Amino acid sequence: MSEKKKTVQELNQENRSKWDKLRFDTQLIRAGEDPYPETSNSLRIPIYATKSYTYSTSSEFFKNHYYYSRTENPTLFALDNKLATLHGGESAISVASGMGAVHLACSSVLQRRVERIRPNKIKNLLPQSNPEIIPNILIHVNQYTGIYRLLTKIYPQMGIECRRVNLCDISEVKKSIDNNTKFLFLESPSNPTIDVIDIQACADLIHEVGGKCIVDNTFSSPALQRPLEFGADFVIESLTKYINGHGDCLGGAVIGPKNDILNIRYYWQETQGQVLSPFNAWLILRGIRTLSLRMTRHSSNAMKIAKYLENHSKVTTVQYPGLVSHPNHIVAKKQMKDFGGMIGFELESVEASNKFIELLKLIKVGVSLGDLTSLIEYTSLMTGIDLASWERKSMNISRRHFRFSVGLEDPEDLIDDLDQALEQI
Ligand SMILES: Cc1ncc(COP(=O)(O)O)c(C=O)c1O
Repeated sequence: MSEKKKTVQELNQENRSKWDKLRFDTQLIRAGEDPYPETSNSLRIPIYATKSYTYSTSSEFFKNHYYYSRTENPTLFALDNKLATLHGGESAISVASGMGAVHLACSSVLQRRVERIRPNKIKNLLPQSNPEIIPNILIHVNQYTGIYRLLTKIYPQMGIECRRVNLCDISEVKKSIDNNTKFLFLESPSNPTIDVIDIQACADLIHEVGGKCIVDNTFSSPALQRPLEFGADFVIESLTKYINGHGDCLGGAVIGPKNDILNIRYYWQETQGQVLSPFNAWLILRGIRTLSLRMTRHSSNAMKIAKYLENHSKVTTVQYPGLVSHPNHIVAKKQMKDFGGMIGFELESVEASNKFIELLKLIKVGVSLGDLTSLIEYTSLMTGIDLASWERKSMNISRRHFRFSVGLEDPEDLIDDLDQALEQI
């Protein structure tokens, strides 16, 4: 009797213990991507451009791991398995964008089980129905604007209180948490002012009240920081940035405990439908294999540029975790392998800042970050454009602030470009 063929997902589960024994740089290339007999042992996982899967018997339908590409696709599973292995997490789900990943992770933590409850009873479960126990969440004062909007503008309309706190100050965190705090959300380093937050200290505090710690690791990637090792429950990655690293598509991922990721896949992703296309998953798999090499170079380029900016008389502030002048340099050293490619800096006046952006020749001006090409954004006019001036102030974003995603060009060419622009302002 012929043995039942194993599915890609089953093979991947078996292979996980093998991948876990490999070192990080080998995992980058091999995890999730063992050749499968089904695909003629092709070296690369193919792009499975399909919406559904077929069966010859009804029992096959129940046994098969593949039903519909909203929840299962072998190309995406390869990426999921690689990301889970790289972060040392039990499981992962890759989705259409970083914001999609944030929505899914936060929704699942706030979720209450309602499957067997009649629709007319659900209103009794809404937070508003019992003002004594309004759930709350904690975020940093300075946060990527998309996440800031979701958690501070949209969630409160659904009865969730959002507390904005300086998470760099652990005594503030302690004071702001109570028994109704469902999660603490942090980015470290943060966008756009490159604040560094102590993941372990925050995770320990939120766990005391039974809440979850969600860490957005986009500015570091697993090559520089693995938040699960410091007690985080969930990691978010915007795959759009360093993980893909080539600036040619969007993607996001949540990494966390197996049962939570299953719930995200079959409860939330099934209903929210933020599906990553198999082609983009394939592009991201292509990009991720060189992640370590790229992060090393991003970090060394950024360190040279941060030092150059720190010594320039027309630059008033430099925010880079690798500089000893960074207020949380010690925390960065504890939780990061290297300091990454993101720098914040301020010039002496708004007038000089307006001129500076027009004088750059080599360095591109634009939003987003984390790829080969250096990109500078004029923070208040670009990702900060939708914020009121009081909001920018509360986030410490001045009209003189720039966020620099240092690319992989020769650092001397980048410094020459900054130099000629600063000279003329
Ligand atoms: C820290 C951080 N998290 C999440 C996101 C959202 O990612 P995406 O653009 O892939 O939706 C961004 C986008 O810039 C970001 O900077």
